[in-house]
Amino acid sequence: MDVNPTPTSPGILPEKNSMKTVRGFASATVGNVACGFDVLGFAITEPGDEVILTLSDQAQSGSPVSIVSITGDGGALPLDPKKNTSSFVVLKFLEYIRAHKQIDFTGHISLELKKHLPLSSGMGSSAASAAAALIAANELMGNPCSKMELVHFAIEGERVACGSAHADNAAPAILGNFVLIRSYTPLDLITIPSPEHLYCSLVHPHTELRTAYARSVLPKEISLKTATEQWGNVGALVAGLLTSDYDLIGRSLVDVIAEPKRAPLIPGFFEVKQAALDSGALGCSIAGSGPSIFAFSSSEKTAIAVGDAMKEAFLHSKTPLQSDLWVSPICKEGARIM
Ligand code: HSE
Repeated sequence: MDVNPTPTSPGILPEKNSMKTVRGFASATVGNVACGFDVLGFAITEPGDEVILTLSDQAQSGSPVSIVSITGDGGALPLDPKKNTSSFVVLKFLEYIRAHKQIDFTGHISLELKKHLPLSSGMGSSAASAAAALIAANELMGNPCSKMELVHFAIEGERVACGSAHADNAAPAILGNFVLIRSYTPLDLITIPSPEHLYCSLVHPHTELRTAYARSVLPKEISLKTATEQWGNVGALVAGLLTSDYDLIGRSLVDVIAEPKRAPLIPGFFEVKQAALDSGALGCSIAGSGPSIFAFSSSEKTAIAVGDAMKEAFLHSKTPLQSDLWVSPICKEGARIM
């Protein structure tokens, strides 16, 4: 954390004419985890987005938050603070602490966003930016909110980013670990620790798939047979995670709802999945809404071999695609101050 010129006490705004700077970080996340559409996600340790907030006691006309720079997005993200996910969630946070924590902020926050996650990748890019911004804003204001409270604003950010307020990226981006969303209204989140030797191979092919489009291809209704199969797998996956039963985790990574509809949108999906399984992965599926694909393994060594095989398969599929690979354990910490 960068503090200039002197640290302030929790809950107290800086001295007159002073500035304070905080840098937040939040990592990539994988939503759905195969069978848990919109109700299960996890965070990996890297890569992630950084948000640097500078607080000044000098109010400026217009919005209390302004975006001074965005790097790494190729100019794609909006600079309007109400339209950009990272600034939008800070505005919501400020409204909330004014109404519920009696903190009436009258100064100004300048926001710099350093994007390291690719956009429209299925790696929870918008959630990482929102989570990094929120952890930094909370720190700037003396930590008036718990991480659980921050998740609410991050979910609202998802609505701005893709039109759907799903929590399976936003919640693990802030809380770390696996997070199960038992209920959205009211929000009821359960964090699930990861088995010690569980590793994720996350492969991002160099193509984009917008979440809003990937959601539009999903069925509006499903049969009781399909639902039964899906919730059997979700329950078993959670049991496997809690008991470190790697075989059960592998058997449960089955998605009969979203994967069949989205797989055709990802060139080479079936070849990549087969390559992962042939190389010893416990299981493999689409990361969030895609086009990234994740696989689980029970050792780092296997996860590296699995990831390499997945990259090769993308390269040799009918539509050859270059890709990036990250091999990571599950991130325990969630969003943090750097
Ligand atoms: N649960 C969301 C979806 C995740 O599948 O649309 C988006 O990354």
